[in-house]
Amino acid sequence: MPLKSTARRPRVAHTLPALHRAIAELRGRNASLALVPTMGALHDGHLSLVRLAQRRAKKVVVSIFVNPAQFAPHEDLSSYPRTWKEDVAKLTAEGVDLIWNPAAAIMYPDGFATRLAPVGPAAAGLEDRIRPHFFGGVATVVCKLFTQSRPDVAIFGEKDYQQLKVVTQMSRDLDLRVKVVGAPVVRERDGLAMSSRNVYLSPEHRAAAPVLFKVLKACAARLRAGEALAGVLRDGTSEVTNAGFALDYLEARHAETLAPVAASSEGPMRLLIAARIGSTRLIDNVKV
Ligand code: PAJ
Repeated sequence: MPLKSTARRPRVAHTLPALHRAIAELRGRNASLALVPTMGALHDGHLSLVRLAQRRAKKVVVSIFVNPAQFAPHEDLSSYPRTWKEDVAKLTAEGVDLIWNPAAAIMYPDGFATRLAPVGPAAAGLEDRIRPHFFGGVATVVCKLFTQSRPDVAIFGEKDYQQLKVVTQMSRDLDLRVKVVGAPVVRERDGLAMSSRNVYLSPEHRAAAPVLFKVLKACAARLRAGEALAGVLRDGTSEVTNAGFALDYLEARHAETLAPVAASSEGPMRLLIAARIGSTRLIDNVKV
Protein backbone atom coordinates (compact mmCIF):
# COMPACT_ATOMS: atom_id res chain seq x y z
CA MET A 1 0.00 0.00 0.00
CA PRO A 2 1.66 3.30 -1.04
CA LEU A 3 2.19 5.84 1.71
CA LYS A 4 0.20 8.99 1.24
CA SER A 5 3.28 11.06 2.12
CA THR A 6 1.54 14.41 1.86
CA ALA A 7 -1.10 13.36 4.40
CA ARG A 8 -1.64 15.72 7.30
CA ARG A 9 -1.64 14.50 10.88
CA PRO A 10 -5.27 13.84 11.84
CA ARG A 11 -6.90 16.07 14.44
CA VAL A 12 -6.86 14.47 17.86
CA ALA A 13 -9.65 14.93 20.41
CA HIS A 14 -9.11 13.96 24.05
CA THR A 15 -12.26 15.53 25.51
CA LEU A 16 -15.94 15.43 24.57
CA PRO A 17 -16.24 19.13 23.71
CA ALA A 18 -13.19 18.81 21.44
CA LEU A 19 -14.71 15.73 19.81
CA HIS A 20 -18.06 17.40 19.20
CA ARG A 21 -16.38 20.52 17.77
CA ALA A 22 -14.16 18.49 15.45
CA ILE A 23 -17.07 16.37 14.24
CA ALA A 24 -19.27 19.40 13.57
CA GLU A 25 -16.47 20.85 11.46
CA LEU A 26 -15.81 17.60 9.62
CA ARG A 27 -19.44 17.08 8.83
CA GLY A 28 -19.83 20.66 7.58
CA ARG A 29 -22.86 20.47 5.34
CA ASN A 30 -23.79 16.89 6.16
CA ALA A 31 -20.65 15.04 5.03
CA SER A 32 -21.11 11.37 5.88
CA LEU A 33 -19.05 10.03 8.77
CA ALA A 34 -17.61 6.58 9.50
CA LEU A 35 -16.26 5.43 12.85
CA VAL A 36 -13.61 2.73 13.32
CA PRO A 37 -13.44 1.75 17.01
CA THR A 38 -10.08 0.32 18.13
CA MET A 39 -7.96 -0.21 21.23
CA GLY A 40 -4.82 0.96 19.38
CA ALA A 41 -1.65 -1.11 18.79
CA LEU A 42 -2.73 -0.78 15.20
CA HIS A 43 -1.81 -3.34 12.55
CA ASP A 44 -2.85 -3.96 8.95
CA GLY A 45 -6.14 -5.52 10.11
CA HIS A 46 -7.16 -2.22 11.71
CA LEU A 47 -5.92 -0.27 8.68
CA SER A 48 -8.08 -2.39 6.38
CA LEU A 49 -11.09 -1.19 8.40
CA VAL A 50 -9.94 2.41 7.91
CA ARG A 51 -9.73 1.88 4.15
CA LEU A 52 -13.20 0.36 4.07
CA ALA A 53 -14.47 3.30 6.16
CA GLN A 54 -13.01 5.71 3.61
CA ARG A 55 -14.94 3.94 0.87
CA ARG A 56 -18.17 4.08 2.87
CA ALA A 57 -18.08 7.70 4.06
CA LYS A 58 -16.55 11.08 3.31
CA LYS A 59 -14.91 11.54 6.71
CA VAL A 60 -13.35 8.96 9.02
CA VAL A 61 -12.85 9.01 12.76
CA VAL A 62 -10.81 6.30 14.49
CA SER A 63 -11.22 5.84 18.23
CA ILE A 64 -8.28 4.58 20.25
CA PHE A 65 -9.40 3.59 23.73
CA VAL A 66 -8.26 0.59 25.76
CA ASN A 67 -11.59 -0.10 27.40
CA PRO A 68 -11.22 -1.21 31.05
CA ALA A 69 -14.88 -2.33 31.12
CA GLN A 70 -14.22 -5.29 28.83
CA PHE A 71 -11.25 -6.71 30.74
CA ALA A 72 -11.77 -9.06 33.69
CA PRO A 73 -9.50 -8.42 36.70
CA HIS A 74 -7.20 -11.33 35.74
CA GLU A 75 -6.90 -10.20 32.10
CA ASP A 76 -4.21 -8.11 30.40
CA LEU A 77 -5.50 -4.51 30.80
CA SER A 78 -2.28 -3.11 32.29
CA SER A 79 0.02 -4.94 29.87
CA TYR A 80 -2.17 -4.43 26.78
CA PRO A 81 0.17 -3.01 24.08
CA ARG A 82 0.03 0.80 23.81
CA THR A 83 1.80 2.30 20.80
CA TRP A 84 0.35 5.83 20.50
CA LYS A 85 3.13 7.40 18.38
CA GLU A 86 3.20 4.58 15.86
CA ASP A 87 -0.61 4.52 15.75
CA VAL A 88 -0.77 8.24 14.92
CA ALA A 89 1.87 7.81 12.19
CA LYS A 90 -0.11 4.95 10.63
CA LEU A 91 -3.39 6.87 10.73
CA THR A 92 -1.64 9.93 9.27
CA ALA A 93 -0.39 7.82 6.38
CA GLU A 94 -3.96 6.59 5.80
CA GLY A 95 -5.32 10.13 5.70
CA VAL A 96 -7.71 9.66 8.65
CA ASP A 97 -9.57 12.85 9.61
CA LEU A 98 -9.89 12.56 13.38
CA ILE A 99 -8.63 10.42 16.26
CA TRP A 100 -10.84 10.14 19.34
CA ASN A 101 -8.63 9.27 22.30
CA PRO A 102 -10.40 9.82 25.61
CA ALA A 103 -8.83 9.01 28.98
CA ALA A 104 -10.63 6.36 31.06
CA ALA A 105 -11.90 9.11 33.38
CA ILE A 106 -13.59 10.83 30.43
CA MET A 107 -15.29 7.67 29.26
CA TYR A 108 -16.15 6.51 32.80
CA PRO A 109 -16.19 9.55 35.10
CA ASP A 110 -16.52 9.13 38.87
CA GLY A 111 -19.98 7.86 39.68
CA PHE A 112 -20.49 6.16 36.32
CA ALA A 113 -23.09 3.44 37.01
CA THR A 114 -24.55 2.07 33.78
CA ARG A 115 -23.65 -1.12 31.99
CA LEU A 116 -25.43 -2.76 29.07
CA ALA A 117 -26.30 -6.44 29.47
CA PRO A 118 -26.51 -7.78 25.90
CA VAL A 119 -28.04 -11.21 25.29
CA GLY A 120 -28.85 -12.93 21.99
CA PRO A 121 -25.53 -13.24 20.13
CA ALA A 122 -23.74 -12.07 23.29
CA ALA A 123 -25.00 -15.18 25.09
CA ALA A 124 -24.26 -17.70 22.34
CA GLY A 125 -21.90 -19.76 24.52
CA LEU A 126 -18.69 -18.91 22.66
CA GLU A 127 -16.49 -16.02 23.90
CA ASP A 128 -19.12 -15.21 26.55
CA ARG A 129 -18.63 -18.65 28.14
CA ILE A 130 -14.90 -18.06 28.63
CA ARG A 131 -15.06 -14.26 29.16
CA PRO A 132 -18.42 -13.56 30.85
CA HIS A 133 -17.38 -9.97 31.47
CA PHE A 134 -16.52 -9.16 27.90
CA PHE A 135 -19.60 -8.30 25.85
CA GLY A 136 -21.22 -6.15 28.54
CA GLY A 137 -18.08 -4.01 28.47
CA VAL A 138 -17.86 -3.98 24.68
CA ALA A 139 -21.55 -3.11 24.20
CA THR A 140 -21.35 -0.32 26.80
CA VAL A 141 -18.29 1.33 25.28
CA VAL A 142 -19.42 0.92 21.67
CA CYS A 143 -22.83 2.40 22.53
CA LYS A 144 -21.03 5.36 24.11
CA LEU A 145 -18.67 5.71 21.12
CA PHE A 146 -21.70 5.73 18.79
CA THR A 147 -23.60 8.35 20.79
CA GLN A 148 -20.48 10.48 21.30
CA SER A 149 -19.55 10.64 17.63
CA ARG A 150 -22.89 9.86 15.93
CA PRO A 151 -21.45 8.24 12.82
CA ASP A 152 -23.52 7.04 9.87
CA VAL A 153 -21.45 3.88 9.54
CA ALA A 154 -19.17 1.93 11.88
CA ILE A 155 -16.70 -0.70 10.72
CA PHE A 156 -15.89 -3.85 12.72
CA GLY A 157 -13.67 -6.79 11.78
CA GLU A 158 -14.98 -10.29 11.21
CA LYS A 159 -11.87 -11.34 13.16
CA ASP A 160 -14.02 -10.81 16.27
CA TYR A 161 -17.05 -12.43 14.70
CA GLN A 162 -19.24 -12.69 17.79
CA GLN A 163 -18.41 -9.08 18.70
CA LEU A 164 -19.53 -7.98 15.22
CA LYS A 165 -22.90 -9.68 15.76
CA VAL A 166 -23.28 -8.27 19.28
CA VAL A 167 -22.61 -4.72 18.13
CA THR A 168 -24.93 -5.07 15.12
CA GLN A 169 -27.73 -6.27 17.39
CA MET A 170 -27.05 -3.54 19.96
CA SER A 171 -27.14 -0.77 17.37
CA ARG A 172 -30.43 -2.07 16.00
CA ASP A 173 -32.06 -2.70 19.41
CA LEU A 174 -31.15 0.74 20.80
CA ASP A 175 -32.18 2.62 17.62
CA LEU A 176 -28.72 4.13 17.34
CA ARG A 177 -29.10 4.63 13.60
CA VAL A 178 -25.53 3.50 12.91
CA LYS A 179 -25.03 1.01 10.09
CA VAL A 180 -22.61 -1.63 11.33
CA VAL A 181 -20.44 -3.02 8.52
CA GLY A 182 -18.21 -6.11 8.82
CA ALA A 183 -14.77 -6.34 7.21
CA PRO A 184 -12.89 -9.55 6.28
CA VAL A 185 -10.10 -10.98 8.47
CA VAL A 186 -6.62 -9.75 7.51
CA ARG A 187 -3.94 -12.42 7.92
CA GLU A 188 -0.17 -12.77 8.06
CA ARG A 189 1.38 -14.55 5.08
CA ASP A 190 1.24 -17.87 6.92
CA GLY A 191 -2.47 -17.49 7.66
CA LEU A 192 -2.33 -16.31 11.28
CA ALA A 193 -5.06 -13.71 11.82
CA MET A 194 -3.47 -10.37 12.68
CA SER A 195 -4.03 -9.37 16.29
CA SER A 196 -2.57 -6.82 18.69
CA ARG A 197 -1.96 -9.78 21.02
CA ASN A 198 0.28 -11.65 18.54
CA VAL A 199 3.26 -9.67 19.93
CA TYR A 200 2.92 -11.75 23.12
CA LEU A 201 3.76 -14.99 21.27
CA SER A 202 7.22 -16.50 21.84
CA PRO A 203 9.01 -17.53 18.60
CA GLU A 204 8.07 -21.15 19.27
CA HIS A 205 4.40 -20.34 19.85
CA ARG A 206 4.35 -17.96 16.90
CA ALA A 207 5.56 -20.86 14.73
CA ALA A 208 2.69 -23.06 15.98
CA ALA A 209 0.00 -20.37 15.67
CA PRO A 210 -0.93 -20.77 11.96
CA VAL A 211 -2.38 -24.20 12.80
CA LEU A 212 -5.63 -22.50 13.88
CA PHE A 213 -6.41 -21.14 10.41
CA LYS A 214 -5.10 -24.30 8.77
CA VAL A 215 -7.52 -26.41 10.81
CA LEU A 216 -10.44 -24.02 10.23
CA LYS A 217 -9.84 -24.16 6.47
CA ALA A 218 -9.53 -27.94 6.42
CA CYS A 219 -12.68 -28.38 8.53
CA ALA A 220 -14.65 -25.94 6.36
CA ALA A 221 -13.61 -27.78 3.18
CA ARG A 222 -14.69 -31.15 4.62
CA LEU A 223 -18.04 -29.73 5.75
CA ARG A 224 -18.62 -28.21 2.33
CA ALA A 225 -17.91 -31.64 0.87
CA GLY A 226 -20.75 -33.01 3.00
CA GLU A 227 -18.85 -34.79 5.81
CA ALA A 228 -20.59 -35.09 9.17
CA LEU A 229 -19.82 -32.37 11.69
CA ALA A 230 -18.82 -34.52 14.68
CA GLY A 231 -15.95 -36.31 12.92
CA VAL A 232 -14.66 -33.13 11.32
CA LEU A 233 -14.58 -31.25 14.62
CA ARG A 234 -13.00 -34.23 16.39
CA ASP A 235 -10.09 -34.27 13.90
CA GLY A 236 -9.74 -30.49 14.08
CA THR A 237 -9.62 -30.63 17.87
CA SER A 238 -6.82 -33.24 17.89
CA GLU A 239 -4.74 -31.31 15.37
CA VAL A 240 -4.96 -28.09 17.39
CA THR A 241 -4.24 -29.90 20.65
CA ASN A 242 -1.29 -31.79 19.14
CA ALA A 243 0.20 -28.46 18.07
CA GLY A 244 0.42 -27.49 21.75
CA PHE A 245 -2.78 -25.46 22.14
CA ALA A 246 -5.36 -25.72 24.91
CA LEU A 247 -8.66 -25.46 23.07
CA ASP A 248 -11.43 -23.25 24.50
CA TYR A 249 -13.82 -24.10 21.66
CA LEU A 250 -14.03 -25.21 18.04
CA GLU A 251 -17.63 -24.89 16.97
CA ALA A 252 -19.90 -24.65 13.95
CA ARG A 253 -22.59 -22.00 14.34
CA HIS A 254 -25.29 -20.37 12.26
CA ALA A 255 -23.47 -17.43 10.62
CA GLU A 256 -26.15 -14.90 11.56
CA THR A 257 -27.74 -16.06 14.82
CA LEU A 258 -24.69 -17.95 16.17
CA ALA A 259 -27.08 -20.75 17.20
CA PRO A 260 -25.53 -24.25 17.16
CA VAL A 261 -26.02 -26.04 13.83
CA ALA A 262 -25.43 -29.65 12.92
CA ALA A 263 -25.21 -29.36 9.13
CA SER A 264 -24.82 -26.69 6.47
CA SER A 265 -28.34 -27.52 5.26
CA GLU A 266 -29.54 -25.60 8.36
CA GLY A 267 -28.32 -22.28 6.95
CA PRO A 268 -25.07 -20.37 6.42
CA MET A 269 -22.41 -21.74 8.74
CA ARG A 270 -19.39 -20.18 10.44
CA LEU A 271 -16.62 -22.14 12.14
CA LEU A 272 -15.18 -20.42 15.19
CA ILE A 273 -12.14 -21.29 17.27
CA ALA A 274 -10.48 -19.99 20.44
CA ALA A 275 -7.34 -21.57 21.86
CA ARG A 276 -4.54 -20.78 24.27
CA ILE A 277 -0.82 -21.31 23.86
CA GLY A 278 1.51 -20.24 26.65
CA SER A 279 -0.23 -17.21 28.15
CA THR A 280 -1.68 -16.01 24.84
CA ARG A 281 -5.24 -16.58 23.75
CA LEU A 282 -6.02 -16.52 20.03
CA ILE A 283 -9.37 -16.50 18.21
CA ASP A 284 -10.22 -16.98 14.55
CA ASN A 285 -13.13 -17.99 12.34
CA VAL A 286 -14.01 -18.83 8.73
CA LYS A 287 -17.07 -19.06 6.57
CA VAL A 288 -18.07 -22.61 5.60
P1 PAJ B 1 -9.38 -4.14 18.74
O1 PAJ B 1 -9.00 -5.50 19.19
O2 PAJ B 1 -8.35 -3.06 18.71
O3 PAJ B 1 -9.99 -4.27 17.30
C1 PAJ B 1 -10.54 -3.16 16.66
C2 PAJ B 1 -11.25 -3.63 15.40
O4 PAJ B 1 -10.30 -4.20 14.52
C3 PAJ B 1 -12.31 -4.71 15.68
O5 PAJ B 1 -13.47 -4.46 14.90
C4 PAJ B 1 -11.59 -5.98 15.24
O6 PAJ B 1 -12.47 -7.00 14.82
C5 PAJ B 1 -10.77 -5.45 14.07
N1 PAJ B 1 -9.65 -6.35 13.77
C6 PAJ B 1 -8.68 -6.78 14.62
N2 PAJ B 1 -7.85 -7.64 14.00
C7 PAJ B 1 -8.31 -7.76 12.72
C8 PAJ B 1 -7.91 -8.52 11.57
N3 PAJ B 1 -6.84 -9.34 11.62
N4 PAJ B 1 -8.61 -8.40 10.44
C9 PAJ B 1 -9.71 -7.59 10.39
N5 PAJ B 1 -10.15 -6.84 11.43
C10 PAJ B 1 -9.46 -6.94 12.58
O7 PAJ B 1 -12.18 -5.11 19.09
C11 PAJ B 1 -11.79 -4.21 19.81
O8 PAJ B 1 -10.59 -3.57 19.65
C12 PAJ B 1 -12.63 -3.66 20.97
O9 PAJ B 1 -13.40 -4.70 21.51
C13 PAJ B 1 -13.54 -2.47 20.57
C14 PAJ B 1 -14.56 -2.87 19.50
C15 PAJ B 1 -12.67 -1.29 20.07
C16 PAJ B 1 -14.34 -1.98 21.81
O10 PAJ B 1 -13.49 -1.63 22.84
